[in-house]
Amino acid sequence: MRPEPRDWSLVYDGYRPEQEGLREALCTLGNGYFATRGAAPDSSAGDIHYPGTYLAGGYNRLVSEVAGRNVENEDLVNMPNWLPLTFRIDDGAWFRIDDVDVLSFRQELDLRRGVLNRDIRFRDEAGRTTRWSERRLVSMANQHLAGLEVELTAEDWSGRLTVRSGLDGGVVNSGVARYRALASQHLEVLELDHLGADALFLRCQTSQSLIQVALAARTRLYFKKREAEAEYRTQTLKDQIWQEVACTIEQGASVRVEKIVTLHTSRDRAIAEAGLEAKRTLGHAGGFDDLLAAHEIAWRHLWDDCDIELIDGTAEDTELKLHVHIFHLLQTASPHTIEFDVGVPARGWHGEAYRGHIFWDELFIFPFLSLRIPTLTRALLHYRYRRLPEARRAARAAGYEGAMFPWQSGSNGREETQHLHLNPNSGRWNPDNSYRQRHINSAIAYNVWQYYQATDDHEFIYAYGAELLLEIARFWASIAVYNAEIDRYEIKGVMGPDEYHTAYPGADPEMEGGIDNNAYTNVMASWVLTRALDVLELLPKEHCIQLCERIGLDLGETERWYDISRKLRVPFHDDGIICQFEGYEKLTEFDWEGYRKKYSDIHRLDRILEAEDDDVNRYKASKQADVLMLFYLFTADELYLIFERLGYPLAPESIPRNIDYYIGRTSHGSTLSSVAHSWVLARSDRSRSWRHFRCALDSDITDVQGGTTPEGIHVGAMAGTIDLIQRCYIGIEMRANALHFDPALPDDLHQIKVRLRYRRQVLDIEADHDTLRIGSPSFTSTPIKVAYRGHYRDLAPGEVCQFRLIKPEDRDRDENRAMGAAKEAKP
Ligand code: BGC
Repeated sequence: MRPEPRDWSLVYDGYRPEQEGLREALCTLGNGYFATRGAAPDSSAGDIHYPGTYLAGGYNRLVSEVAGRNVENEDLVNMPNWLPLTFRIDDGAWFRIDDVDVLSFRQELDLRRGVLNRDIRFRDEAGRTTRWSERRLVSMANQHLAGLEVELTAEDWSGRLTVRSGLDGGVVNSGVARYRALASQHLEVLELDHLGADALFLRCQTSQSLIQVALAARTRLYFKKREAEAEYRTQTLKDQIWQEVACTIEQGASVRVEKIVTLHTSRDRAIAEAGLEAKRTLGHAGGFDDLLAAHEIAWRHLWDDCDIELIDGTAEDTELKLHVHIFHLLQTASPHTIEFDVGVPARGWHGEAYRGHIFWDELFIFPFLSLRIPTLTRALLHYRYRRLPEARRAARAAGYEGAMFPWQSGSNGREETQHLHLNPNSGRWNPDNSYRQRHINSAIAYNVWQYYQATDDHEFIYAYGAELLLEIARFWASIAVYNAEIDRYEIKGVMGPDEYHTAYPGADPEMEGGIDNNAYTNVMASWVLTRALDVLELLPKEHCIQLCERIGLDLGETERWYDISRKLRVPFHDDGIICQFEGYEKLTEFDWEGYRKKYSDIHRLDRILEAEDDDVNRYKASKQADVLMLFYLFTADELYLIFERLGYPLAPESIPRNIDYYIGRTSHGSTLSSVAHSWVLARSDRSRSWRHFRCALDSDITDVQGGTTPEGIHVGAMAGTIDLIQRCYIGIEMRANALHFDPALPDDLHQIKVRLRYRRQVLDIEADHDTLRIGSPSFTSTPIKVAYRGHYRDLAPGEVCQFRLIKPEDRDRDENRAMGAAKEAKP
């Protein structure tokens, strides 16, 4: 057992109303089924507070009028607020933190136990001092349960204390200022009732998706362990139900208020009906301490599998920040998620930004999950497989074959990207071209392949993965157009990951949107086509014939795939730099220095320039890694092979040159950008890599983008930092049926310890600057192959193997030699 340092608590001392939004997002509690922001129980939605509860995959569609057009958006619905709890003394005012004189305030998110603690001492208008000590949880043991416990201490007064506890169905979606002009009323309350004296019940329904959500809440007062003799009174309003519970309290005494809440929905499995189950679950739920005991065990088990231990020479808080990231990732996608039909939303179930939609960010998220809870990745990939028919329809409607997945995905897999987006800097609604990011399809194919590499799960590939890969390959083959003049295939009218380049300068963004031959898109398409051909080889013959028959795939088509995979065009600048897209080299250099002086924050250059009546499309300026994503996803050796296949041999020295070129032309307008840059610099410039890593680590904790985190955390960046530690700095690569290691720790990072799951094996890995140690606990099954820079070992259950690491100086020499040899060995 490890000692329990401060590293497990995110602590806020002092009440800062201006920070509430950020703290609410970062103190969200969830269990992969539902999540509740860390808002004060006495608060309601307004400028300071935004209580929000979200159900994983709880979407609803509404039509709004925007700039003279009717647009339909699908949103993650803000569900009824179960938190409301306040009190008053005699006939005084109901307590609101903003109305009292706060004497002391401490809020602590205990990451190890998954508990939010708030401790407040305050003086009210009448000069009375009260202490509010709160504990809160959303159960990781039983996904339908949550609990709130508040101990109220009458420090210098006696009197009648009335607690007011409620369920509030009168909530709307108003958490994101940019969306406030849009329709926001998603819920209709169907039933409000009380269950006996001490419990409340609320049932509501989303207006279009017709998801019924039922909540039951029991509020009880205790003096120590003894239930207080209290009077209950229920009050039913239009869409809220309240309970007032009153008792007498003496000076110096404390009363403990317990609110136990259950939540069920019509989407649950193994239920008769949501309302009935909410009441039944409440009937069987114990008190707060019972919930806490089971919840703590569930979290302990998760941490046993998912923790990362570090020794960091400079900053003491690196491990804490990683814990924050792992915690929020597991609250977004947990073992409970496996039962449900959901993907991982870019902003967690923590807020309303991006409407809870699922993007390509899973590319940054799955590696952590696949090497820890592979059954969870498998379930999340099923989310895509179930939407394959819709992706096929989308491809057909756009004139293509195969499956074209949407850039933003929600309930049924249709394209959810908004048509217009508001630039808050200019107040203008502009066309949103980001749906042209067809590279999302390669991300899905890549995720399937990586999952397979990590697990060797043949059943998944046979039954689902192969079909996904083949249909995505088909899409790429049909969107690629042959250009006889250059004897190359081209992909036009798309967008790369860099969302600044939505069209060519001067083009009508709606009619002539997108750019041509985005290098990232084309290289990934070639990779997908190659993998699809591999998959056909991998399938048992009979199964392969059946699958091809079922999806109507013939030899002629695969021959074309082979041809396209070798002839997709990748543009280059004259000096050998990979060109982000066709014509990029003709764009104007951006005045980075000047704009950094002019604006304190230039993360969102697109908005700044649009508000100046300029257009970011005119400049060599990227929002985030685009070409460099290739170096993020593939090792140098893999890239040599991919480019070789495409007939563009890549010189080893061109990798650092490309990194240098693009890194200076990126504004990091997406939090994913620092993750990618940290990764690509990890081998060539370890201290710079570490700086980007630290920046990614702070993305949400300090809200580096100034205001985005309160609207929801950035799960991709959070997972990306964890993956940087596990795969990048330890240099883990799953290739050719072996687990390869190549640790290169930044100087400031002295040691990493992780536990991984690879192909049904549990591995305990320790790496520092000199040694790599891999242990396989005796309970694991068949031996696996591990390798360090070409030295292979078989690792059987119960064995440990150790490698002495070569020094960074020797590594560079070794690497250059190896690169030379690899290139010579190629045909
Ligand atoms: C980024 C995308 C990302 C999305 C959701 C955008 O700002 O540019 O790459 O997928 O956010 O996180």
